[in-house]
Amino acid sequence: MFFSVVVSSLAAIALATPFFSPNDPTSQLFDRANLISSGYSTTGTQSCHNTSSVSNLCCFEAPGGLLLQTQFWDTNPSTGPSDSWTIHGLWPDHCDTTFSENCDSSRDYTGIGTLLSNNGASDTLAFMQTHWVDINGQNEQFWEHEWATHGTCMSTLKPSCLPSGSVKGAEAVAFFQTVVKLFQTLPTFTFLSNEGITPSTTKTFTLSQLTTALKAQTGFTPALDCSSGALNQISWYFNLKGSIIDGTFVPINAPETGSCPSSGIKYPPKSGGSSTTTTGGSSPTGTPGSLPGKATIHAISSSGTVGGLLSAGTWSTQTLATYTITGTASSFTMTSSKGNCGVSGTTFSCGSGVTTTSFSAVTSGSDLLLASGGSTSFSSDGVPSGSTVFTVFTGTSHTDRYTLSIIST
Ligand SMILES: *[C@@H]1O[C@H](CO)[C@@H](O)[C@H](O)[C@H]1NC(C)=O
Repeated sequence: MFFSVVVSSLAAIALATPFFSPNDPTSQLFDRANLISSGYSTTGTQSCHNTSSVSNLCCFEAPGGLLLQTQFWDTNPSTGPSDSWTIHGLWPDHCDTTFSENCDSSRDYTGIGTLLSNNGASDTLAFMQTHWVDINGQNEQFWEHEWATHGTCMSTLKPSCLPSGSVKGAEAVAFFQTVVKLFQTLPTFTFLSNEGITPSTTKTFTLSQLTTALKAQTGFTPALDCSSGALNQISWYFNLKGSIIDGTFVPINAPETGSCPSSGIKYPPKSGGSSTTTTGGSSPTGTPGSLPGKATIHAISSSGTVGGLLSAGTWSTQTLATYTITGTASSFTMTSSKGNCGVSGTTFSCGSGVTTTSFSAVTSGSDLLLASGGSTSFSSDGVPSGSTVFTVFTGTSHTDRYTLSIIST
């Protein structure tokens, strides 16, 4: 009964967005296909809905079967894109809303960025650098904390649940990949703006206006937390069928309300437009002068880093593509999963029919900038946000100008 009623738009989103996409480069190194074929069910009993004890906790999350995908709206200081909430984490509460934390200090990994990039999860890392950001710029410490505090409590991520021979930390790689993929199905900013609720320095909202809007968009009610009367955090609740690694998240209504008052709630804008940076923690940074073999390409505009290039060579704030770079800093070619990259006229693109052109790299401060025909200037007809993408042109003849920073993965 419960099911037929609850399966609505959020469930549909989750299903339409497979947690492990077949073209995820991850499968090359961290062998997710192996994990999936090892028999871990994506169906099976929904966590917190078992009527008798379940013995195999590798495919049934317990005791932390009430999962919260928590997101921040940080405005003081502002973090992350101005049109997106940012990731706080994924927390395994017990079914009665009590919880355990810090469950296995022997797996308190450090160097999460390196762990991810060494195990085929560079795309996940690139997304984390823009959307899972610490308010003080200490991203690496924030990620370590979220893993140690919450990830180590997940029964389905015990190393004994992974195939023998998995690299140390493989279960943490899976954790970060899953959190990013789940977050990408929960664009809270867009849900609110679709219902006419956008950040404002003057307006206030009632709690029921906010929850009604979010329920209208998703079919489910999240919990909202406030700080000094302003919206600051959201918790989207789920049960899980199967494992955190490859299971299905089943959305549910929040079993408890958050800390927001019933009225007078502020939803302030983030300051200064997009203020994401890739500094902080041990985010990979290009060593000036040295050209990486694999890189993501980030766009730096006057307001800071705003997304970067997708595999087709377009500009977006979605998960960035990994580019393969061949040659030297003074002359190299690039390919993405779509094909060769090149400039035709002033249009940059990558794809199977694209004629390769050569690029160079120019050191600017701590950045390694992409140059075409010796110029590091690129421009587009708009600034991307959400799911919009813009064609990248060389030179400054289009309205929104930026440089492209090559960051080793
Ligand atoms: C569900 O399974 C877990 C794990 O085996 C167990 O601790 C819990 O008591 C079970 N719940 C019920 C209602 O049997």
